[in-house]
Amino acid sequence: MLQELYQPHPEIAQNAAIKSMEEYHALMAKANEDYEGFWGDYAREKIDWFKPFDTVLNESEAPFYKWFEGGELNVAYQCLGRHLATKKNKAAIIFEGDNGDQRVLTYRELYYEVNKTANMFRNQFDIKKGDRVVLYMPMIPEAAISMLACAKLGAIHSVVFGGFSAEALRDRIIDAEAKLVVTADGAFRKGQPYMLKPVVDEALSYGCECVKNVCVVERNGEEIHWEAGRDYAYLELIKNESVKCEPEIVESEHPLFLLYTSGSTGKPKGVQHSSAGYILWAQMTMEWVFDLKENDTYWCTADVGWITGHTYIVYGPLAAGATTVMFEGVPTYPDAGRCWKMVEEYQINQFYTAPTAIRLLHKMGEDEPDKYDLSSLRILGTVGEPIDPPAWKWYYEKIGDSKCAIVDTYWQTETGGHVITPLPGATPIKPACATLPLPGIIAKVLDAEGKPAAPGEQGLMCITKPWPSMIRNIWGDPQRFVKSYFGDCSVDGKAVYFTGDGAIVDENGYITITGRTDDVINVSGHRMGTAEVEAAIKKHPNVAAVAVVGKPHPIKGEGIFAYVVLKSEDTIAEEMSMVQEINEVIKKEIGAIALCDSMIFVPDLPKTRSGKIMRRILRALARGEEITQDTSTLEDPSIVERIKNCCKSAGI
Ligand code: PRX
Repeated sequence: MLQELYQPHPEIAQNAAIKSMEEYHALMAKANEDYEGFWGDYAREKIDWFKPFDTVLNESEAPFYKWFEGGELNVAYQCLGRHLATKKNKAAIIFEGDNGDQRVLTYRELYYEVNKTANMFRNQFDIKKGDRVVLYMPMIPEAAISMLACAKLGAIHSVVFGGFSAEALRDRIIDAEAKLVVTADGAFRKGQPYMLKPVVDEALSYGCECVKNVCVVERNGEEIHWEAGRDYAYLELIKNESVKCEPEIVESEHPLFLLYTSGSTGKPKGVQHSSAGYILWAQMTMEWVFDLKENDTYWCTADVGWITGHTYIVYGPLAAGATTVMFEGVPTYPDAGRCWKMVEEYQINQFYTAPTAIRLLHKMGEDEPDKYDLSSLRILGTVGEPIDPPAWKWYYEKIGDSKCAIVDTYWQTETGGHVITPLPGATPIKPACATLPLPGIIAKVLDAEGKPAAPGEQGLMCITKPWPSMIRNIWGDPQRFVKSYFGDCSVDGKAVYFTGDGAIVDENGYITITGRTDDVINVSGHRMGTAEVEAAIKKHPNVAAVAVVGKPHPIKGEGIFAYVVLKSEDTIAEEMSMVQEINEVIKKEIGAIALCDSMIFVPDLPKTRSGKIMRRILRALARGEEITQDTSTLEDPSIVERIKNCCKSAGI
């Protein structure tokens, strides 16, 4: 049985940045009384400004908020240059390859590599402030080096996850109008080489006129195509570049990066983050939430292709002067003990992963952790999806020996950093609950009228005041930005940020996130828009209509369930090959991460008379739940029974 509340471990509390609930409440009170004073003080203390800011928050063009106007900085300097005086020989990045390769870069070495790369981007590819650079990279130090080299030049990077297909990569390249693509020949996964460069070649063959060059890092040494005059080898180019590089000083609001994420409708959105506000919160949350100490070794298992990799592998740890581990492989190769072996070997103090990985490692090797010494661990983090009590219990007891603090960190691509999470030295933890907003984050669970939801009542997770690391825009589509995030909830007539998540608050103010209220599915902690998957499936010539919903999955949290209406009446045997064909189309359009867990063929979809698909009915049917919705408004109410029969014969 799990206890209701777990008090912070006294040793952690004693040395923590925020040591008690009294300190937490005092910080919150300060933020409530003098919001700008609160943030202004931290921004002055934490950022090494080249020019101090004049104003803390400018709300005149809300919701296009501006933070720290007048200030000038360089994020690469904040992450590297400024640390040289005190940490030049400290490990900045510890890399472990899938195949066991190891490489350690000290702050000085990383600084030099970033400078050489920035010089190379500038001298060879004419990359300047504001230019966009797409990074399609494996989990190798050059991914972080390239990100920081962009930051050094004031160029805007857009990292595209290496699992995305050529089509998905092309869409992102074109939307960002990238001038340069940085990639690798490929990398290693589960002991085997896999390829990236051919995907870039294919993406560019679809027409990406904006891209002038491709810079290729060698990782797996496999044979690749070289396009003369376009493709260049990274190592060849940086050989003669200087280790000295003057940072491009940028204004606070200068975009640091774009990161594409799924929305409930349409194409993925290019979430645009700022320089100052983003790096401030990345650094502060790193220090507060992970209880960072000078000698710690911190490991986040995410991929740099997602926001977690941006904020909590690269920017947060380096801005805070930490040692961050970068792992190329997967947690289950060569066996389910890989992570625990690495924890022992590197004496990891903070381990941060997704509930999907915890569930998988639990299932594959419940007692595997017993083989390793995990006593260095102090903080265990989770992110990306709700964690269920059995996974929480195993994580807490088996991995953390009932001594570590578990931080269930709730946040999003758009929030830039954590927003709701326990503080390891202060917050009594309630299992599987994200607990309380961080100091300075004014987050509220609201009802449909914009009033605080009553305890126990399902409400909408909103952040009612702007915060420094919030999304600034959707690249090239400001109207969509306003509509997506500020169109649903308002308080006293003022639009507030709605996360897209539902939540329940308890009588102590603790917040439990209940999941998306929109048509976004959370697969293994990765966001997938139903509209995106449907658009891909519709590309198959024999598909007349499709609706995609999420269905609980024992490992992934949610799986993708597709209802497909075919143009021609097919036999069962043909349907089986259709599943394969449709999955091939999905792989080509998006990538393997969007493959359907279940697909059933139905005669039609439940539509209202105005043609709207009743997804709630489809969601209930996929879960085998009773239909509670009124079906009389459907164009053809008999369709529900017919779909039910299809589900039954498919064994669902
Ligand atoms: O639904 C929430 C879920 O992940 C979504 C954000 O996804 P993404 O932008 O890809 O960022 C993931 C990594 C920050 C949220 O809208 N989510 C994230 N963290 C949690 C969570 N749901 C429950 N508990 C969490 N700790």
